[in-house]
Amino acid sequence: MTDPATQLVAPPGGSGAMFDRIAGRYDAMNRVLSLGLDRGWRRRTVRALQLGERPRVLDLATGTGDLAVEIARMHPGATVIGLDPSPAMLAIAERKIARRGLADRVTLVRGDAQCLPYRNCEMDAATIAFGIRNVPDRSAALREMARVVRPGGRVAVLELGEPRRGLLARVARFHTRHVVPRLGALLSGAREYRYLQCSIAAFPAAAEFAAVMERAGLHVVDIAPMTFGVCTLYVATPREDA
Ligand SMILES: C[S@@+](CC[C@H](N)C(=O)[O-])C[C@H]1O[C@@H](n2cnc3c(N)ncnc32)[C@H](O)[C@@H]1O
Repeated sequence: MTDPATQLVAPPGGSGAMFDRIAGRYDAMNRVLSLGLDRGWRRRTVRALQLGERPRVLDLATGTGDLAVEIARMHPGATVIGLDPSPAMLAIAERKIARRGLADRVTLVRGDAQCLPYRNCEMDAATIAFGIRNVPDRSAALREMARVVRPGGRVAVLELGEPRRGLLARVARFHTRHVVPRLGALLSGAREYRYLQCSIAAFPAAAEFAAVMERAGLHVVDIAPMTFGVCTLYVATPREDA
């Protein structure tokens, strides 16, 4: 059943198809619209996983593979699976992974975060960066992450939101509401960046989203707002009583 606190903002034509249309410009747009901050946010996400020597990590909504690549780069013993429904995003990820010589450790799979083709407790960690917002049933994806990660392993969700308090929050809100959709549409020629802004504004506040994670069978161990709350990192472990 869909959790009532998970607001669905359906992108035009379905989320995978929408990302197929903007895949070619996605990486450049990411750098520009996040003012280059997304790399630091991803590195912090990888550190929060507290991985051991030879971890197996699942990166959901991997898109063009930036987080999967960062995990493999920061952990030379890691094997990573990047899963996404968008063939065009995955094609870019595949080229990126090959260019960096990581094809033996990073595998790409076309799939849906709401229904994972993995056994219970098979992974040491699971991540989803800027992706949970795009999954129609967020609770289902969170339940799947809780299921496939072993007890004591970590689940990290990195997501954009609208900063709510303070002067800098107002500046950041202006950036999200006015700069992101206009610059996005101008540079990419795609109206999809309007969806991006709407889905960021509709995403629940951090405490509310953490409660959704808890109801999905995760124990939230840290909620870390970054860059005045433009982005939040949620770190959790599967709940053993769930
Ligand atoms: C904003 S991109 C994020 C890409 C990447 N994680 C990053 O950090 O740049 C969102 C991704 O979510 C994917 N997505 C949409 N629906 C999904 C689903 N049901 N399951 C898994 N991924 C999905 C899209 O195809 C897209 O690649």
